[in-house]
Parts: sequence; C-alpha cells; structure tokens
Amino acid sequence: MDMQTIVVTGATSGIGKALTIRLVEDGHAVYAFGRDEAKLNDLESALKKAKGTLIPINADFRSLTAVEKALKRLEKKLKSGLDVLVNNAAAVPAKKDFTEDGFETQYQVNHLAHVHVTNRLMPLLARRQGKVITTGSDAHKRARFNPKDIHALKRYHPFRSYCRTKLYNNMMTAYFRREVDNVKFYVVHPGRVKTDIGTKDTNKMYAFFWRWFTRKGFKPEETVPTYMMLIDTPSPKPGYYFQEALHEESATAKNIDYQNVLMRHAFRELKSLFLDES
Ligand SMILES: NC(=O)c1ccc[n+]([C@@H]2O[C@H](COP(=O)([O-])OP(=O)(O)OC[C@H]3O[C@@H](n4cnc5c(N)ncnc54)[C@H](OP(=O)(O)O)[C@@H]3O)[C@@H](O)[C@H]2O)c1
Repeated sequence: MDMQTIVVTGATSGIGKALTIRLVEDGHAVYAFGRDEAKLNDLESALKKAKGTLIPINADFRSLTAVEKALKRLEKKLKSGLDVLVNNAAAVPAKKDFTEDGFETQYQVNHLAHVHVTNRLMPLLARRQGKVITTGSDAHKRARFNPKDIHALKRYHPFRSYCRTKLYNNMMTAYFRREVDNVKFYVVHPGRVKTDIGTKDTNKMYAFFWRWFTRKGFKPEETVPTYMMLIDTPSPKPGYYFQEALHEESATAKNIDYQNVLMRHAFRELKSLFLDES
C-alpha cells in the first residue's frame, strides 16, 4: 500500500494510540492529535525509527479555538490533500461540566469537535477522494434522540450522555455521507476494549466498574485490523463496522430527520463561534 496522509484524533492512548503506532510503522504520515504535549512527545520519540512519520498536533477538544488554531496550522502542511481522517477522541467525565465554549464536555469533545474537524478538513479530503472513519460504539443503541435536549443536560448521567454522543457519531457520519461527494464515511464499533477511558475524570466507583466491565475486553491492538481494512481497501462499502464486517446500527441513528436536526444545530453553534473568522 502506498504511503497515505492520515489524521488521527485521540492518538495518545488506547485505540487511537494502537492505530497510530501501526500506521506509522507501516510507513504512513500520521498527524496525531492529542491534548497532552508530553504524551505526544513520547509517542513521537518512540516512533523515531519507524518507516513512516508522526507529526504531533496539540489541541484540547474542550477549546474549539485551540482546535481551530491547530486546523489552520494543519491546513498549511496538507496543501496537497488528506487521505484519511480518523475521529477517535472521546471522554466520559463523571460530572456535568462545561467547556470554555459553553458546551457540555461530552457533547463538545465526543461530537461537536468532530463535526468541526471533519467539516474543516473536508476540502482536503475531497482533493484525494479521502475517507473519514469515526470511532463509534454499540452504546449508541441505548440512546434516544431528543431534539429538545440535544446536549443531554436534563438529569445528567455520564453513561447516558456518552451513549447520546456515540449516537451522534453515527448520525454525523450518515449526514455527511448524504451531503458530500468525493469523500467516503465509516463508523467503527471497536467492541468492549480494555482502555482507560472509563477511569479518566471520574470517581472511584465508576473507574472500578469500568475496569471490571472491560476486564475480558479486546486489547486496543485487536481493534486495529478493522481500521486498517477500511484504510487499505480502495473502496469499502460505506457503513458501520465491527471486526472488519458490516454491523447493524440503530433505527434512530438512521433517521434522516433527526440527522438533519442534529447537524443543523451543530453548524449553527459552530457558526456562532467562528462568525468573526468566516
Ligand atoms: N474502550 C471501549 O470499550 C470502547 C468501546 C466503544 C467505543 N469506544 C470509543 O473508542 C474511542 C477511543 O477510546 P479508548 O477506549 O481508546 O479510550 P482512551 O484511551 O481514553 O482514548 C480516548 C482518546 O481521546 C482523547 N481525549 C479525551 N479527551 C480529550 C480532549 N478534551 N481533547 C482532546 N483529546 C481528548 C484521550 O486523550 P488522553 O490520551 O490525553 O487521555 C485519548 O487519546 C472513543 O471514541 C470511544 O468512545 C471505546
């Protein structure tokens, strides 16, 4: 496979890290998004002798201004286009809190930032007939769509909000697939994976539950073949994938009216933030 230019978000731990290592070892150029500069530097050093290259991009998704600055730097480096974007960053904080942009953290980190990154990189992806792969979850099947509570602020529960944002990953993907030519869109459900996502920004009880829940889960490396299959195959069938095969998503995720409501809402929010710059 020829060298590809790939952006991975949430590249500094778990699934994103395992994927980034594999891609750089295989000879690709990976722009790795992370919120922790030290972790990015460690990853870059560990891959110094690999066939490909890792270019660290430091941005915390709780600041869309920081994300926007990073995207502007990235655009200058990617003039000839982008082959693949992997939207993978996510968080499940125990407490309801708000970002500097005023949005509930999971809503912004797990969804709105992905909409922004995907939308902004779209012209570069279209130039190469690229692919967008978003890490979703079967947890989306537990979520309802409530147009009156898109941010899931009523009776905040971390898992309920998480399921909702994972539903949004599928809905965003389906929306862009319908609206955008020249770019292909996929969602990967990685399965239950032994990572630390459920132990960050949380309390002891939730962290204990997460470790117990994932004790027999996949290793992050075991999720990588599905991403590699989507990246290496010239034109895989668009859809929702688990273990390298197409997988069923919920009826709610497929509802076109809901997708339109969700995405128009996100675009209004992003427009209000970046109005001065457009
Ligand atoms: N583990 C599972 O069982 C499972 C199941 C289904 C779906 N998923 C999905 O898989 C994806 C990866 O999760 P994971 O399990 O590999 O967990 P993880 O190791 O915690 O990875 C999440 C990544 O997102 C990054 N991130 C979190 N908050 C961020 C922020 N504010 N700004 C920028 N980046 C941020 C993390 O950065 P740090 O490295 O700095 O923490 C990390 O690199 C997520 O989309 C998750 O929803 C996981």
